Amino acid sequence: MDLPKVQVDYATREGDWQFNPNPELYAEVATQFQRRNANTLLKELCWSYLDDIILDIGCNNGDVTKMLLSKSDQIHHIMACDILAPCIEYAKQKNADANITYIEMDVCKEWPTSWENRFDKVFSNECLNMIVDNQENVLKKVFNSLKPGGELGASYFLRIDGIQAATLTLMESEKWKKYFTENKLSKTLAITQKNIEKMVWCDEQVFPKMLEKIGFQVKLCKSVQSWSFLKIDCTFIKGTFDLFFKFYHQIPTALQGDYLTDMVSIIKEIEMMKFQFLSDKGNEWAHLMQDESNDKHPLCQELIIIHCVKPNVS
Ligand SMILES: C[S@@+](CC[C@H](N)C(=O)[O-])C[C@H]1O[C@@H](n2cnc3c(N)ncnc32)[C@H](O)[C@@H]1O
Repeated sequence: MDLPKVQVDYATREGDWQFNPNPELYAEVATQFQRRNANTLLKELCWSYLDDIILDIGCNNGDVTKMLLSKSDQIHHIMACDILAPCIEYAKQKNADANITYIEMDVCKEWPTSWENRFDKVFSNECLNMIVDNQENVLKKVFNSLKPGGELGASYFLRIDGIQAATLTLMESEKWKKYFTENKLSKTLAITQKNIEKMVWCDEQVFPKMLEKIGFQVKLCKSVQSWSFLKIDCTFIKGTFDLFFKFYHQIPTALQGDYLTDMVSIIKEIEMMKFQFLSDKGNEWAHLMQDESNDKHPLCQELIIIHCVKPNVS
């Protein structure tokens, strides 16, 4: 099966779909790989800081924002925003810091005029991929909010192969297909492919052109793999699905345990195969293998990373 470039769960959801506002579950399940992915992004950005004011778009519960602040004592302040009020409340309580301001805000709507030419850097880890129709407008606002010479560093989530393959495989299996009648596989894939056309970041040739049209100088636009080693069991997968994915909720509650068990074995198999394939080719993440003894398994998120600069006015 040729897997679509983008997780089908993401690409087929409706326009007003929102992330599950559950900051505690996020901390329990997602923070571990979000930190890893943010570090993958920061490694590519090679940022240095000098009394910087940073905007963090889509901060959720603030765990990654706090990690970003810890990277340098030359980060003067971080303005961190998210559309989800409960996550901002959690961030204010659990990730409070005198150098961070958390605000509830939908970045697709109006931005404060005081943000014009205000930030030295704009950072966004796996949020902008949730903005399908307003992508260019939001990036224009990012551009306006940067000081001349300021930089944008962002990651866009594409997919986790194991979850993608398991979702599609079970959707057409004899055992589970009756619960997906509204989402017959071929229809799901057709919707996904159509939506991918709107997701400009999936095209590494076209995306930089859009960024340049806005005025950015593009230093980097590339896909990367970000590996984590985690305990992949039903509890972990259920938590991840409750936060991010929707097809799983079509299974009747009483059968969800069984469905998750089937999911977990496919996910583990595919992720391990992928990891071993890369290890054979000399994988820079191979050192993570040492965690295998602790009953941990590899899990790879595929991301698009961009690094852009707002040129200095001459
Ligand atoms: C996958 S989470 C990433 C959170 C955080 N950056 C991290 O690395 O852990 C994406 C976040 O983007 C937020 N988000 C999505 N659309 C948004 C919008 N239009 N305005 C502000 N935040 C948004 C979601 O609510 C969610 O908390």
